[in-house]
Amino acid sequence: TQSERDSLYIVMNYAKEYYKDLLLSSEEGRSIGLSYFRERGFNDRTIEKFELGYTLNEWDHLYKAARSKGYSEEILEKSGLLIVKKEEGKKYDRFRGRVIFPVHNLAGKVIAFGARILTKEKDQPKYINSPETEIYHKSNVLYGLYQGKNAIRKEEFCYLVEGYTDVLSLHQADIENVVASSGTALTEEQIKLMRRFTENVTVLYDGDAAGIKAALRGIDLVLKGGLNVRIVLLPDGEDPDSFSRKKGSTELKQYLKSNTQDFISFKIGLYSKDAGHDPIKKAEAIREIVTSIGVIPDPIKRSVYIQETSHLLKISESVLFTELNKLLIQDR
Ligand code: UTP
Ligand code: MN
Ligand code: MN
Ligand code: MN
Ligand code: MN
Repeated sequence: TQSERDSLYIVMNYAKEYYKDLLLSSEEGRSIGLSYFRERGFNDRTIEKFELGYTLNEWDHLYKAARSKGYSEEILEKSGLLIVKKEEGKKYDRFRGRVIFPVHNLAGKVIAFGARILTKEKDQPKYINSPETEIYHKSNVLYGLYQGKNAIRKEEFCYLVEGYTDVLSLHQADIENVVASSGTALTEEQIKLMRRFTENVTVLYDGDAAGIKAALRGIDLVLKGGLNVRIVLLPDGEDPDSFSRKKGSTELKQYLKSNTQDFISFKIGLYSKDAGHDPIKKAEAIREIVTSIGVIPDPIKRSVYIQETSHLLKISESVLFTELNKLLIQDR
């Protein structure tokens, strides 16, 4: 109901302010949380802009603080902030001993949190995230969209990254047109959401095997959503955050500028690396590319990409069109 959603916004806002205060004003928060962000190179402006926070390493400190302010146990549980185990008669805060990344909706209201562990612990997940609630449906949220929407409109394109800290580091390098799918595999809803701000997406995922795999999937999804897609490959082992810190703003911008490829060149590069002169592998690569072209809704764009593929791979357009039409017929 609307009134329940309103209560959820209010309690999430309370928690956000509470975590922020802990980071900036408590001794534990400053010595552990703030030092952590500082060591990663995040400055006050970034910490303020993204409303970062800290949560104490205690079982139920948020619960107690919120109860004393009059928030009900029911709303705390519904918000995902409190975990209640009825059978065991236990209740405890979901987020403990971590730094906090609030997730904002388009109006700037906090609808969820991501919480990062500070030390390397094998049996603990690196990030813990809010569960789905009445106000948080993770498949249609993009982290950083609230902070980046004006820049996305202005630049007329949007970088798509994997994680929270990638968004923060790009902002700090003066690149604000960026959003993250945040761990969840990119969804159609997220692409529709991006489409409200721009037609152009540049995928900038981690430079590892997982990142490339996710990028390939992301490319087809973005194309299917009717958006134009480009891609930047980062050096092996780097993500936008680590790379940006290593290079600094000017060099990063230069790298992005000279390493942005359209998806055809990207796929050709990827497949020709192992195809070499093997005709069978080359045929597979061509089929891969035509498959991506096949998901593009606009026939004019499809034909432009067929021309480009024909040119780059030195194969006749008519052969490519025949292959494309086979796919399009299968699809119906
Ligand atoms: P990464 O493993 O690439 O983490 O996951 P990261 O963003 O580089 O984080 P840092 O730099 O080590 O702090 C990318 C994103 O996937 C989600 C988070 O949103 C993360 O930012 N993720 C990752 C989770 O939700 N849970 C996890 O345990 C790990
Ligand atoms: Mn709903
Ligand atoms: Mn990764
Ligand atoms: Mn990463
Ligand atoms: Mn990282």
